[in-house]
Amino acid sequence: MGKLFPRFYDIAMTPLENTRFKKIRESLVSIASGRVLEIGSGTGVNFPYYKSGVQVDAIEPNPLMMNQTEKRIKAAQVPIKTHLAKAENLPFADDSFDTVVATLVFCTIPDPVKALQEIKRVSKPGAKFLLFEHVRLDQELMGKTQDLLTPAWKKICDGCHLNRDTVSLLRNAGIPITKVNSYYGGLFLTIECGIEKE
Ligand SMILES: C[S@@+](CC[C@H](N)C(=O)[O-])C[C@H]1O[C@@H](n2cnc3c(N)ncnc32)[C@H](O)[C@@H]1O
Repeated sequence: MGKLFPRFYDIAMTPLENTRFKKIRESLVSIASGRVLEIGSGTGVNFPYYKSGVQVDAIEPNPLMMNQTEKRIKAAQVPIKTHLAKAENLPFADDSFDTVVATLVFCTIPDPVKALQEIKRVSKPGAKFLLFEHVRLDQELMGKTQDLLTPAWKKICDGCHLNRDTVSLLRNAGIPITKVNSYYGGLFLTIECGIEKE
């Protein structure tokens, strides 16, 4: 699956991207301002939605995903620089970014606690943190079904956990959540946060 997932990611996502995902991404990403860090940018699906005035550093650990971003970087309205890196070890100085964007990525990051520590470290105090994620459902039966399916799903979908509780991860990391919008019965959330630093 290692090589197939990156090759077929855009094709598999097309039905979703052509429906509500496009609008969700567009309205979330348009909130970004200043110097922006995008986490796990994949094939660059968000790149067309950045509005002029921002500059983007996008990190992605999978070269096969990153290789597909060239066209989208050229077509973007803003400067975008890509870096081969993991969220758990960000190659940036403390207090560097005004906004951090993460879409459909916290499901896949192997150590989300470390990734959130790193995001806090590289964010300026008061930075915006914008997420669009699928999450573990609150309903007991649905949540347990997601738990059961996750081991097989991870193998098919490049490490993706169907049952990540991203809201709890953010709370436990001390990252204040300012707004949550729910889609598809709570399966997908947009989460807006303001990074606070001691
Ligand atoms: C489902 S794809 C989402 C891609 C893109 N963000 C989007 O919205 O379409 C998940 C991405 O997370 C990346 N990823 C996996 N582990 C990661 C890590 N430790 N740090 C950052 N990104 C990671 C994968 O390589 C993949 O590109």
